Amino acid sequence: MKQANANGKSVLVPETLLIVDDEAGIRKVLHLRLSREGYRCKEAATAEKALDILAASPIALVVLDIRLPDKPGTELLPEIKSGYPDTAVVMATVVSKVSVATQCLQQGADDYICKPFDLDEVPLSVRRALEKRALRLKIKEYQQNLEEKVEEQTLEISNIFLGAIEALASALEAKDRYTGGHSRRVSEIALALGTELGLSATDLQDLRWGSLLHDVGKIAVDQLIQNKPGSLTSEEYEHIMIHTHVGADIVRPVVNERITQMIEHHHDHYDGYGLNQVVAGKDIPLGARILAVADAFDALTSDRPYRPAISREEALEEIKRCIGTQFDPVVVDAFLKIISRGSEGHARDYQDRNVATSKLSRD
Ligand SMILES: [Fe+2]
Repeated sequence: MKQANANGKSVLVPETLLIVDDEAGIRKVLHLRLSREGYRCKEAATAEKALDILAASPIALVVLDIRLPDKPGTELLPEIKSGYPDTAVVMATVVSKVSVATQCLQQGADDYICKPFDLDEVPLSVRRALEKRALRLKIKEYQQNLEEKVEEQTLEISNIFLGAIEALASALEAKDRYTGGHSRRVSEIALALGTELGLSATDLQDLRWGSLLHDVGKIAVDQLIQNKPGSLTSEEYEHIMIHTHVGADIVRPVVNERITQMIEHHHDHYDGYGLNQVVAGKDIPLGARILAVADAFDALTSDRPYRPAISREEALEEIKRCIGTQFDPVVVDAFLKIISRGSEGHARDYQDRNVATSKLSRD
């Protein structure tokens, strides 16, 4: 067996074998013969002792007697194979029980040897079994590497797609003088909020993509309606709001369901009275509840065709006014904390914007 030494170089170390037989004389003979072949040998007289040794340190191969005082070797074999699948097993049996030994081969034993032992045959059998084991380990390692490679490439492909969709979203925003950079700013605020709320690294990563892509569905929205000065008719408002479903449909093939749901629900109202809403309160995905606050704050403090930007203080008042109706109180509470600390990222830059109106957004 090859192992790395202290200098990181690969060196050969002897395989460790375990001889399980209730007869001390047999254990001794096998121990001596197999040691001469360069193996390191351990001994056990019972099944219980054998399991103790297996649990204590890695064993490459077990020479297992079929007849043991506390448990038949035929019963110990499946325990070894399930608990230590990388350990090879050579069954040892009297000639009259060869049929039992061959059954053991079907249950995962690698080979068998007959008593009385032919001491030249034993090392051959052990070597055969260890070669089979080495092949199994190689296949396993190859499969693991392959799985890791596939996982890596899947992630890479997914990131390429996401990057492309993000570029599309940015291009959409850049085309519109009112929304340029909106998603990036929303993303900064959302991530600060997610961190404040103690989200895991995986959830923050989802939140990042959800916030960057939340308005990608605007590609399906009529620009004349989107940029209409003044208030919208209910039909026009309904038309703009299709962007949540369109956005979710665009990203669904390349992102996980959490991100899709975040996009689909980012205009849901906490009290359940948003347009065509099917969930309310904590049933709205947390990412969507975070996005709702981040999105509203950025939209309120930015110029829109239907109103100029309002100040940060007014935006905060507007958001506070909508606690429990449009926004989750827990998320707003976290938002107020990060705002008071000035750790909301780009949101700091809004301090000096001019006051005009306090209407909420249609972003
Ligand atoms: Fe939106």
